[in-house]
Amino acid sequence: MARHLITSALPYINGIKHLGNMVGSMLPADVYSRYLRQRGHEVLYICATDEHGTPAELAAKEQGIPVDEFCAQAHDAQKAVYDGFNLAFDYFGRSSSPQNHEITQEIARELKANGFIEERAIRQVYSNTDGRFLPDRYIIGTCPHCGYDKARGDQCENCTRVLDPTDLIDARSAISGSSDLEIRETKHLFLLQSVLAGEVEAWVDERAENWPVLASSIARKWLTEGLHDRAITRDLDWGVPVPADTWPDLAAEGKVFYVWFDAPIEYIGATKEWADQDPEHRDWRSWWWESEADVHYTQFMGKDNVPFHSVMFPATLLGTRAPWKKVDVIKAFNWLNYYGGKFSTSQRRGVFTHDALEILPADYWRYFMMANAPESDDSSFTWEHFTATVNKDLADTLGNFVNRVLSFSRKRFGDEVPEGSEPGEAEARLGEEIARLLAEYEEQMEAIQFRKAAAALRALWSAGNSYLEEKAPWLEIKTDKEGAALTLRTAMNLIHLYAVVSEPFIPASSAAMRAAFDLRDDTATWVTQEEATSLTTLTPGTPFTVPPVLFTKLTDEDLETYKERFGGEEQ
Ligand code: 2FM
Ligand code: ZN
Repeated sequence: MARHLITSALPYINGIKHLGNMVGSMLPADVYSRYLRQRGHEVLYICATDEHGTPAELAAKEQGIPVDEFCAQAHDAQKAVYDGFNLAFDYFGRSSSPQNHEITQEIARELKANGFIEERAIRQVYSNTDGRFLPDRYIIGTCPHCGYDKARGDQCENCTRVLDPTDLIDARSAISGSSDLEIRETKHLFLLQSVLAGEVEAWVDERAENWPVLASSIARKWLTEGLHDRAITRDLDWGVPVPADTWPDLAAEGKVFYVWFDAPIEYIGATKEWADQDPEHRDWRSWWWESEADVHYTQFMGKDNVPFHSVMFPATLLGTRAPWKKVDVIKAFNWLNYYGGKFSTSQRRGVFTHDALEILPADYWRYFMMANAPESDDSSFTWEHFTATVNKDLADTLGNFVNRVLSFSRKRFGDEVPEGSEPGEAEARLGEEIARLLAEYEEQMEAIQFRKAAAALRALWSAGNSYLEEKAPWLEIKTDKEGAALTLRTAMNLIHLYAVVSEPFIPASSAAMRAAFDLRDDTATWVTQEEATSLTTLTPGTPFTVPPVLFTKLTDEDLETYKERFGGEEQ
């Protein structure tokens, strides 16, 4: 058994996330964590809200509340949705925590001591009216290329051209609207990535061999383009302050670290938050100190996050010369689209996580998203595909099987698992098939290939249906009552097996299936090959109940309602 550290990319604090965000980070990390826990590994799954940076400041301003208050509320709102999705984090922290401040500052000091951080003067826009330097996106004006009059200093939203604030015509402050701006010289800290480039490259060469190809190809491409020194401070009020003991001048000017510097460090910070909550977690560094324990570290993220995690964060950690644990495997995802177009937070296009839970329970979404995860390519969400998948896989193949078997057995044999005759040829064939599919399922989960794992799980469910059709206990009972009892007992064993192995994907429904059987010590966390082959774990005489329908079938009317509410045209 191993120790597994798992993190998923930290969701930005502002705004409830859409399904596209969740399918590429938190959900797969949860499915993988649950699987590993069930297999007996020690798992620590850490995530947090990414709270610093300009968007948080702007959103708080829009609501007219202090940014710390905004973040506290928004954190709780996001956490409530993730609880609704049954995401079993060991800890869901906040990048604005004192722990992250402390560790970010510690890491920056070490980088300076080792010669990897340098102060450099740059020229930046200063607003006299606001009394502050303005980050590029706080400056708006007319785009010199397309004439759009609300272009931002970093990019024109209209024509997508990348801009420099000095390109803008009639530039003004996004905060006050004032055009009393000037260019001033100011100092910032730079991380000397160019000096660390060789080391980072060697590190990527060694590690990326084991990464799924999407992550390793992005990392290599990024390295080929060359590692440049990067400004890691900003002029903002909200962020981790530059430590005054090390950089008194910059601290006095109120500089804070750039959000992408402190965000990945929050993986460590949140682990410390987790430890500080419970004296039993005191040894948190054993998860992060490479020399101390044999930890296997897997990160989950959308493809846009790969450069930061495969190159920049490792550069930061390598530069400390301390034995910080670095990632072993990066599992990256492509985009989940909405009817072929993009999910968009700003245009509110697509399905948002809190709306999803309002219309159907988490397991419907969890299964659909993982079975169609954008692993090898972008994939597309459509309501047609969603309702068809729910109806076929969840309602017909799994839910109906469970209900049919348990109701029929109760009707004919009462509310205990019947015994019936000895297993015969059909049961032997079924057992072999189940054991083979279970092995396939395990193999795909170990390889972090969710679509293939979901296909194997679906095949396990289908095998039960084929067996039931073949044996047809509703006919069998007319001529061979003992034979029908055997069929039902075997099918009930399948239900118990499904309850155990489906849990990573559909935890709530799995719990309902498991609870159907009144087993005194149901401590089974996984199913062995032997148990899968024999399908006799449930002792005859075990009491059971028929659970409420596991998955409701969605109607054409439901489909129309969803399309109307969320929009559903091709783009
Ligand atoms: O892209 C994003 O949503 C970022 N908030 C991810 C940060 S991941 C980590 F580095 F914190
Ligand atoms: Zn433009």
